[in-house]
Amino acid sequence: MISKLAKETARRRTFGIISHPDAGKTTLTEKLLLFGGAIQLAGSVKARKAATHALSDWMSIEQERGISVTSSVMQFDYRDYTVNLLDTPGHQDFSEDTYRVLTAVDSALMVIDHAKGVEPQTEKLMEVCRMRNTPVVTFINKLDREGMDPLEILAQIEDKLQIECVPLSWPVGMGKQFKGVYDLYRGQLHLFTPGRDTRADEGGVTIRDLDDPRLDELLGSAADKLREDLELLAGAANPYDHQEFLKASQTPVFFGSAINNFGVKELLDAFVELAPAPGCRPAEPRPVCPDEESFSGFTFKVQANMNPAHRDRIAFFRICSGRFQRGMKVKHQRLGKEVVLSNATIFMAQDRANVEEAYPGDIIGIHNHGTIKIGDTFTAGKDELRFTGIPNFAPEHFRRVLLKNPLKAKQLSKGLVQLAEEGAVQVFRPLQGGDFILGAVGVLQFEVTVARLKAEYGVEADYEPVAYGAARWVSADDRKLLEEFKAKNWNNMALDAEEHLTFLSESPWMLSRTMEMFPRVTFHKTREHS
Ligand code: G4P
Repeated sequence: MISKLAKETARRRTFGIISHPDAGKTTLTEKLLLFGGAIQLAGSVKARKAATHALSDWMSIEQERGISVTSSVMQFDYRDYTVNLLDTPGHQDFSEDTYRVLTAVDSALMVIDHAKGVEPQTEKLMEVCRMRNTPVVTFINKLDREGMDPLEILAQIEDKLQIECVPLSWPVGMGKQFKGVYDLYRGQLHLFTPGRDTRADEGGVTIRDLDDPRLDELLGSAADKLREDLELLAGAANPYDHQEFLKASQTPVFFGSAINNFGVKELLDAFVELAPAPGCRPAEPRPVCPDEESFSGFTFKVQANMNPAHRDRIAFFRICSGRFQRGMKVKHQRLGKEVVLSNATIFMAQDRANVEEAYPGDIIGIHNHGTIKIGDTFTAGKDELRFTGIPNFAPEHFRRVLLKNPLKAKQLSKGLVQLAEEGAVQVFRPLQGGDFILGAVGVLQFEVTVARLKAEYGVEADYEPVAYGAARWVSADDRKLLEEFKAKNWNNMALDAEEHLTFLSESPWMLSRTMEMFPRVTFHKTREHS
């Protein structure tokens, strides 16, 4: 008999959507939530996004917390599946956050605008998926507009993203001539009517044989083009191979128009069937598999909570094994302390509900007062475990913090340490001098940090440019060598918020020179949370 744990795990699908801004991530998310019954009205997700466009709006929304916290993870049921959709910040300045969210998913859905093709942010995010061998399903969006030829776009994906494309649906025409998609997965033709919500669609017309004359009746002259395309495709593309998809070397591709809700149901139907259920996860000293009875998981995101005055924070926690039960005792591995998870939250699209039980793949929110950091492992068993692979990225932008009121130095320090723990910004203390240097992957992070210092810690701070252009965490097997390196580069050495030694360099060029001079020192571009 299959255990309840195995059954619940097998029906979980935990994924994130990756895309370049404007490709249609928000629109698609909304349509997926509509199918899942998680929202009733189109426009709810969109409204949130509209407000995130301007920085000031973004911050006031962030300060309201409730909205962004609840929508960061959206759980809904679809057919026999429980789907956890993890939102990733759209703005590229918060890409560090996105990378970390991707450590908590089992697969990704990549959205591409078919007029624009592969864009820079898509490439970056795909790189992260590749690093972790995350299986990716591709949705080519906006077929109701003119764009690239489908074969051309597939060639571009293969070339730029180094992943083999296997179309499971194929578009018939585009723009004004967009007639629909042929679902190669099921052998069905779906006809497109602009503006019609296809949620109630009973399914397409089943046409397995492409020589079927009904194809000509339904598509007119476009039928021959479809036949031609598919013949070309059969010669050019390998067939879908599930193992290759799971290894992230193949991506199944779907075409549609999110705004018209067209091709979305086919995408979702195939997605829940193809995307993997939660699997084993890398950890020290051994990987952890979801069917292990004892509960475990890790934190991949920490966010200040609804009430800034109380400064409590919510930790987003991915369950990796066992069953979560409300009120259970778990060990906080980094602190070696037992804690009771009495107040965990499960995230719905619009509501938060207290969770009684949850399973591998689910994301729960745990309230805390600053004792949980990104990367923390919690377990219910006796084993000492630590989930690995949750990165900090070397910052590329730097600012010196200027405190307006020197009496607030203590609050500043506390605020910066906490914001660093949340991953909002990175904080460095140079070995020389008492300043704080902020490091960020995207410059908007500085503005948000200053605004949050004021709103949540009552500290008026400002920042000024500082002459750093690159940072690397440094280590060496030979302690003496590291001391020598430190002494020689004293003015460029700093400690990060977790006291890890960091080399701050004036420029990437200076960095490579220093690296050449000290070949036995290791310069790390990412650092695991410890
Ligand atoms: P993002 O989250 O990836 O940034 O993209 P988002 O869904 O917000 O979509 C970006 C723009 O593309 C929006 O237009 C949206 O309506 C449009 N869009 C999304 N899917 C489709 C599609 O299938 N076809 C067409 N033609 N457009 C699509 P906008 O003008 O920025 O916003 P709005 O005024 O439409 O709300």
